[in-house]
Amino acid sequence: MINWYPGHMFKTKKALLAQVKLVDVVLEIRDARIPLSSKNPDIEEICKNKPRIVLFNKKDLADVEKTEEILKKLPWPEGVYYCLVESKATGGLKEVWNIIEKVYGQYKEKWSGKGLRPRPLRGMVVGIPNVGKSTVINRLLKRSVKTGAKPGVTRGVQWIKLSDKLELMDTPGVLWPKLGDMEVGLKLGATGSISDEVLPVIEVANWLLKILCTYRKPEFFNRFNLNGSENLNEIYEKIGRRRGLFLRGEEIDYQKVALVILKEFRQGLLGKYTLD
Ligand code: G4P
Repeated sequence: MINWYPGHMFKTKKALLAQVKLVDVVLEIRDARIPLSSKNPDIEEICKNKPRIVLFNKKDLADVEKTEEILKKLPWPEGVYYCLVESKATGGLKEVWNIIEKVYGQYKEKWSGKGLRPRPLRGMVVGIPNVGKSTVINRLLKRSVKTGAKPGVTRGVQWIKLSDKLELMDTPGVLWPKLGDMEVGLKLGATGSISDEVLPVIEVANWLLKILCTYRKPEFFNRFNLNGSENLNEIYEKIGRRRGLFLRGEEIDYQKVALVILKEFRQGLLGKYTLD
């Protein structure tokens, strides 16, 4: 499980550090299904002491209770806020706006102490691949229709005015995930943060199937017409036959079955899970 990440992702760190300097607040996106494994290992260093709002996205696909339990146990230093969101849903980022309001209030106070006039906060969205950065930006942009989107160029960066309190950098910062930890890699693979092209899909699907069999959610068994007594091999056989995924003759195409399992898991068709 090496070479999952292209080298250029590491080369962006310098550019990212420069971009973060331009903002007042960082919107860090993570996956609610893997709240710990979708964290960039250098996020604290990247954000320095900037206020940060951590959005645990794809709440609709996660075991919310389990995710909340994990989040409650984490240390949340001053200036770091979090919320569970579903950026795909209309109104799914309401809580984020409340936090922005709070951060804005703190800046306003600071500015007024220095005799400065208030201005919209500058924010930037960051996160590892596939956590929903673009979806979050688009959802936030929808709100801007009411206030009027005003693209403007500042020091080579494009800002979009979302309200009187927030301007957003139009492109998200892509962060690299934790590497080297096999289990983290499997979780990132299962949730779609690593491209299937470089993923050992059967290995990831086998790992995931063991979890699905442990949780025993009816969605999983019903979806694939399983009775719950099958071993891994029999699960592949059953899915392969039902979906007609053969190599030649009657030989099951394990690769294709693995891809079906991963795809339908990622779509939430096998139930809601938190893998951390
Ligand atoms: P990125 O910029 O961080 O790489 O992520 P992006 O917004 O492209 O989102 C990655 C995938 O996650 C997309 O699915 C997107 O629709 C989905 N997604 C984002 N937010 C949510 C959410 O709150 N809930 C759910 N269930 N899915 C979410 P896709 O299959 O790649 O594309 P699409 O066909 O859905 O557009």
